[in-house]
Amino acid sequence: MNKFVQTLKKQNQGYPPVWMMRQAGRYHDHYQERRAKHSFLEICRSPALSAEVAMGPMQDFDFDAAILFSDILFPLDLLGCKVDFNPAPSFDFLLKTLDDLERYELIKDPAAYFAFQAESLTLLRAQLGSDKGMIGFVGGPLTLYVFAVEGTGKSDLLSAKEGLTDKRFDRFMRRLMPVMVQNILTQAAASPDVMAILDSSIGMLSVDELKDIYLPYLESLIKEVKEREPNLPILFYGKNISLEHWDVIASLPIDALGIDHGLDLKECFERYPNHVLQGNFPPDWMGLPENEYQKRLDDFLNQMPKGCMNRWICGLGHGLTPQADQNNVKDFVERVRRICS
Ligand code: CP3
Repeated sequence: MNKFVQTLKKQNQGYPPVWMMRQAGRYHDHYQERRAKHSFLEICRSPALSAEVAMGPMQDFDFDAAILFSDILFPLDLLGCKVDFNPAPSFDFLLKTLDDLERYELIKDPAAYFAFQAESLTLLRAQLGSDKGMIGFVGGPLTLYVFAVEGTGKSDLLSAKEGLTDKRFDRFMRRLMPVMVQNILTQAAASPDVMAILDSSIGMLSVDELKDIYLPYLESLIKEVKEREPNLPILFYGKNISLEHWDVIASLPIDALGIDHGLDLKECFERYPNHVLQGNFPPDWMGLPENEYQKRLDDFLNQMPKGCMNRWICGLGHGLTPQADQNNVKDFVERVRRICS
């Protein structure tokens, strides 16, 4: 059994596996060479190209797991809100009023729509072999709602906040939920080792809003997936949230928590003794000059308790940015193996 899968079972020995979000991306020559010939959407929709791109960082940096190369926004496209990337996402229309809900189409066949992701995972698995992990992913429903309303995950999200109380959120969720379940189950058929739910926008909710407004949807999604795929571990990634938010999320049947760089990972290991944790080196530090980056990584690794190595997926607090230095990325994988052995 490989290191990544051992860790998901909290049985890893020795150094932790390394995986980074957006490890196949714009900081990497391998990706840029393919992007010069194909659009982002072409790469995502072609299983062969998408698997090839996902393998790039495995070949150059020897990560312990590969993630499906795709995007979280395809469910909105399926609902009839066409998505494009330049590279920031853009949409046909935004969900600004209750009337805009009528613009979403009735869902035809989600499993057929998401087949390109399952095919990419199947090709990826064949190329990875059995000594590396494989990660499937979807966006968190709240993050998809934020993109549907705002067209971006940034800025003040005022309209998305208003939508929590003017019924846009509830009605959107009711349309989205069956699509999310099918998105996950379609990928699950290709046997990823873990399903990541990337909910980067969850920090827009207070703890009370999380509990009262969002949790029932998240809970029903996760419970439905667990009923259908009881052996598929789930990793939930959240950004800009407090430990009190995490307490709420950790009460769900989620196996692994993806923690951002705003929190102290040591403290999280103590607070969540039954979970696998993923994180949380600051992504911006990957672009620092070699010496400065190395010093910070050494400090980060040396303060991690030895006792948490059995259940730690070592990586970043968010995704690699285009400014990351590929030499630092290569060094990261090697340095973790050396220092944490
Ligand atoms: O290697 C991997 O991690 C797999 C690929 C992956 C991408 N996006 C590729 C991508 C993953 C896991 C994502 C997730 C994703 N996409 C999230 C959740 C995580 C997060 O980053 O918070 C979100 C919110 C999106 C939506 C999205 N897609 C945005 C905001 C952007 C623009 C990014 C930017 O920096 O401008 C994208 C485009 C995108 N997704 C690119 C890549 C490699 C760049 C596309 C290009 O090359 O033109």
